[in-house]
Amino acid sequence: MTNIFITGTTGFLGGELLIELSKRKDINKIYCLIRAESEENAAKRLHHIFNFHNDQLNLDKIIPVLGDLTETELSLRLSADKRLADIHVIVHAAANTSFSPIYDNIVEKVNIQGLASILKWARTLQKLQTFLYVGTATICGKEITNRLIQEEESPDLKANHLVKYTHTKMMGELMIGEYLPSEKILIVRPSIIMGDSRQWVPRSYVIMWALASINFLRLVPVNSNAQLDVIPVDYASNAIIQLLFAKRKHGVYHISAGEQSATTLSKLTHAIESYFPDKPRFNFIEREMTREVKLWSRNKLHANNTLKNYTEYLSYWNREMKDAGDLRILLGGLDPYLSFIELGQVFDNTKLLQDTTIGLPEPAHEYIKRSVQFIENIDIFEAALEP
Ligand SMILES: NC(=O)c1ccc[n+]([C@@H]2O[C@H](COP(=O)([O-])OP(=O)(O)OC[C@H]3O[C@@H](n4cnc5c(N)ncnc54)[C@H](OP(=O)(O)O)[C@@H]3O)[C@@H](O)[C@H]2O)c1
Repeated sequence: MTNIFITGTTGFLGGELLIELSKRKDINKIYCLIRAESEENAAKRLHHIFNFHNDQLNLDKIIPVLGDLTETELSLRLSADKRLADIHVIVHAAANTSFSPIYDNIVEKVNIQGLASILKWARTLQKLQTFLYVGTATICGKEITNRLIQEEESPDLKANHLVKYTHTKMMGELMIGEYLPSEKILIVRPSIIMGDSRQWVPRSYVIMWALASINFLRLVPVNSNAQLDVIPVDYASNAIIQLLFAKRKHGVYHISAGEQSATTLSKLTHAIESYFPDKPRFNFIEREMTREVKLWSRNKLHANNTLKNYTEYLSYWNREMKDAGDLRILLGGLDPYLSFIELGQVFDNTKLLQDTTIGLPEPAHEYIKRSVQFIENIDIFEAALEP
């Protein structure tokens, strides 16, 4: 019987991982690192994870461990916790996933120092068999564009990154080998996790927020034909758990849509267009025109600028927004997402398909149709302020 220690369970992917792991009979205890002021508060957070989709929480099996990855004494505290002496598997899914430069310091602290604390403790565990690190396929950086990418191409210290987050995830991967032997390390690299393929409220709207914002804007400065590797959270979680218990031939796996199930923004928007008949049709313009849109929102656009040809959208924005400044807030929040979309990166999933029975994920332009009503419920302006 396996004992597991897992981080990040209050998040999007970690929540799904915890629920699926909790159902397995071959797992004895699951200890969850949770940020909370008290045991009572931590238990409340656990209840929230399980109540979300009416799953059963068994507190004999699922045990909260209070802790914050930014604590300087975290590894010592975990080492002193006698309950954790017999851990066989660590699943490190926690991270600060912000794309905004204003959070660069905390992103570094959580994703690098926090990981180091877990690793310092992990290497003292006598029974540790596997350290599963949830990385990200986007550690390949921004220079590899418009092609299929293999696991072996990363980490590459020469890679340039769009955001600090992916840089810290790359450095994190490199760090693990300094603490643990390779046979104990399993690195999984999901591509972009958006929504859920089941017909229910996803645990988090993080990436769906970008689609909701694009759905609001309708005229979007981005190349909509770039290939986009997107998977639903339930697929990501199932694939990771299958790999954890599989006879693995590799140490690193993409968890991705790959060439066969990749999508494009064009296909995604086409899939949802008919659900919003009152909005103008989707239209895409050059990324460089973001500047013109911002000038328009300040009432400073020159009369003969090409953006003036899009009167249908300008009047729609005027109708929909009390303050055109909201348009700048939205575009500011969307900016890194649009940059990722334009990279055209697709991640090869051959290894995952060979070593598991998971099969291909449903393409995002198919499963997204089951989530259309949730797109409408997202408060896009509120979320744009918390990137
Ligand atoms: N979502 C994607 O598209 C995607 C794609 C590829 C890889 N990934 C990777 O998948 C993992 C999960 O991502 P996600 O989207 O599920 O993220 P998320 O929803 O933002 O969840 C982040 C989790 O990390 C925890 N955390 C953050 N700071 C912490 C700290 N200082 N101490 C302890 N816990 C802390 C959060 O706890 P609180 O609830 O207390 O904040 C939460 O449980 C990450 O490693 C991410 O890099 C995600």
